[in-house]
Amino acid sequence: MKPIVTKAVFPVAGLGTRFLPATKASPKEMLPVVDKPLIQYAVEEAAAAGITEMIFVTGRNKRAIEDHFDKAYELEAELEMKNKHELLEAVRSIKPAHVDCFYVRQPEALGLGHAVLCAEKLVGDEPFAVILADDLLDGEPPVLKQMVDIYNQYHSSIIGVEEIEREQSRSYGIIDGKEWEDDIVKLSDIVEKPAPEDAPSNLGVVGRYVLRPRIFDCIRQIKPGAGGELQLTDAIQKLLQDEVVLAYRYQGTRFDCGSKLGYLKATVEFALRHPELKDDFREYLRAVNHG
Ligand code: G1P
Repeated sequence: MKPIVTKAVFPVAGLGTRFLPATKASPKEMLPVVDKPLIQYAVEEAAAAGITEMIFVTGRNKRAIEDHFDKAYELEAELEMKNKHELLEAVRSIKPAHVDCFYVRQPEALGLGHAVLCAEKLVGDEPFAVILADDLLDGEPPVLKQMVDIYNQYHSSIIGVEEIEREQSRSYGIIDGKEWEDDIVKLSDIVEKPAPEDAPSNLGVVGRYVLRPRIFDCIRQIKPGAGGELQLTDAIQKLLQDEVVLAYRYQGTRFDCGSKLGYLKATVEFALRHPELKDDFREYLRAVNHG
């Protein structure tokens, strides 16, 4: 049977000013964690969830993403000539053969809601995933797969959430709702980046969504919200007035790679698991710790 959710949207046009205030060119999604850029982890997570069409919403100076997933003829020929088969395999597996990549430009950075709306024509009238690649989620099964499985059961939009410190509420969309079943909440409200005293709960939205196509109409209806941007959160607030929307407390660990500390934590964790690096790196960390 054909999977129901076959498309994922990757908004990559945001400025990433929390991390790279002085860089305009390279998108933060191209930052590597050990040996792969963040966007690669995100695409692999989507592919593991059965998604075959990857839709990137890019912006000015974000062409590095297209180059990354493009075929690298010169590099492949060189690696082949030098008999570097392992590297060649690694380069070829960047874009699995059964996966297609599409690109659409967001002409101006008008917010996450606007970025998602830019993908409307490519998504069409189907449910789809949204992945914010700077939230690196480590889970088994991969977090988007957990969410797509729930979508297949309930056919309702699903937002990934986790428990956050109340004082951090200004960095997240925060939801309110009633327990529906284990780890699933039926949404009654969602607010973008409220002050701690206004936050309706301690469940913060992470960068994973499975949305029904009705969301596009909702985005069209909203006005600029927090930060003067068209917020996806505000469109979800509209959506839940007409349809059931669920929040899912995913199984796994999140690394907020939009922040310097989160990015460093991800690098250390992934290096400590990397077959080639883990022993030497552990040794190094011990030495630094005692130094
Ligand atoms: C976006 C969303 C926010 C969500 C967050 C997760 O904010 O607007 O609702 O909680 O991603 O990372 P951003 O971090 O892009 O400001």
